[in-house]
Amino acid sequence: HLPPRYAEPLPPAFYPPSAPQPFSRPDFGPDFSWGASAAAYQTEGAWQHQGKGPSIWDDFTRRKGVIRRNEHGRVATDFYHRYETDLDLARGLGLSDFRFSAAWSRVLPAGTGAVSRRGLDFYDRLVDACLARDLRPWLTLYHWDLPSALQARGGWANRDVVGWFADYAQLMGRCLGDRVAQWAVLNEPMVFVGAGHLLGIHAPGRRHLGAFLAAAHHATLAQAEGGRALRAVLPEAAQIGTTFSCSFLTPHRPGNSYDEAATRRADAVLNRFFVEPALGLGYPVAELPALRWLLERYQKPGDEQRMAFAFDFWGVQNYTREVVKFSPWLPLQWAALVSAKQRGVPHTDMGWEVYPESVYHMLKQFSAYPNAPKLLVTESGSAFPDVATGGRVHDEARRAYLQAAIGQVLRAQREGVNVGGYFAWSLTDNFEWAEGYGPRFGLIHVDYETQERIVKDSGRWYRDFLSGAPVGA
Ligand code: NOJ
Repeated sequence: HLPPRYAEPLPPAFYPPSAPQPFSRPDFGPDFSWGASAAAYQTEGAWQHQGKGPSIWDDFTRRKGVIRRNEHGRVATDFYHRYETDLDLARGLGLSDFRFSAAWSRVLPAGTGAVSRRGLDFYDRLVDACLARDLRPWLTLYHWDLPSALQARGGWANRDVVGWFADYAQLMGRCLGDRVAQWAVLNEPMVFVGAGHLLGIHAPGRRHLGAFLAAAHHATLAQAEGGRALRAVLPEAAQIGTTFSCSFLTPHRPGNSYDEAATRRADAVLNRFFVEPALGLGYPVAELPALRWLLERYQKPGDEQRMAFAFDFWGVQNYTREVVKFSPWLPLQWAALVSAKQRGVPHTDMGWEVYPESVYHMLKQFSAYPNAPKLLVTESGSAFPDVATGGRVHDEARRAYLQAAIGQVLRAQREGVNVGGYFAWSLTDNFEWAEGYGPRFGLIHVDYETQERIVKDSGRWYRDFLSGAPVGA
């Protein structure tokens, strides 16, 4: 089973993009989903409200020195109390879809066992509030906030997590499946597994190869078991998907065989690792000889079948490309990323190269698998510093990025990629994990002192685009 690797020479001028111009919403077809995404820990706040149990992000952010300025999500954008206003704003932008996640420990304070009625009620009300505004709700079950009680039992490194997660998935499906038709199982497993268990920069803050490998394998199993758990309780028409982080990768020295081989190995880790098991292809171990026998230690007979699940869609989440060079660095299998700053190219507040074409390449790469399901871009966006003056935020760089990325999605679609939606990250500014509140990704500005919202120029542009205005003329 040779996995496809989509490769194309780098376009000489990458920004502004080589997308069809001008274009407008109808070019994407009438059934295309237009949305924005958000996540529980990054927005809800209300961290101890009405019986919510603690999560690993509540715990991790209590440690000194792990988050910029020691910030945390205890209040965040107060979405828990302000969701109606924020959904009004989403509606005002003309979105057809809104993606959010549920906090597992709000619903099951101890992760398993007793259900919090009041916690579940919040998601009930949130879903109803979406529907009342004609916003299709897309519910992500796991966006990184594992219940602390489960971390105490080993968290993702304990194989039991697969069953705990499937039970939680089934509960959510049973309670909300009559109104939520679009579900995503996991959000970016490589990020929460890698940043959380190997790099130690995200919760639970571990730096342990064994924990990383175990967590990776259990997340792969949970991805598929979560899908099956939902399938068992949801109406047939429900769409069950999951999301993947991904970056288009290019070698630092094109033509250099070491860098090119390093790029292929990094691709296996960063872009293929969770995708191919879902297709029944197993892990991309042909590219990862060192991981092969290490991973085997956590695998049981039958796991290869268990890791497979026929998702209705894959969520593609893309922010940049990465440039890869050979290096004796184990985590990426003797490959290292050369940062945008080192390369002296334009970058965002996250330090990520401004490279909107990446989403085009990833849509092509993922759609090249023979059994690839429908793709949706479930996250895409950019962080730039904003200044709010006189009730406006003139965020030209973010607006240009948004336009360029959407153009690249159209480019892929015109080349035959089955892509059915675009969700901007994010509806509002929010808590950017280890970076705290510094990097701003929102279409809507948040003043964290007053919780005042201002629709940025990028949001206004999105609104005009969604109302049918041609852009890029
Ligand atoms: C992907 C994650 O899903 C989201 O939580 C995060 O804020 C964005 N990337 C930006 O880093």
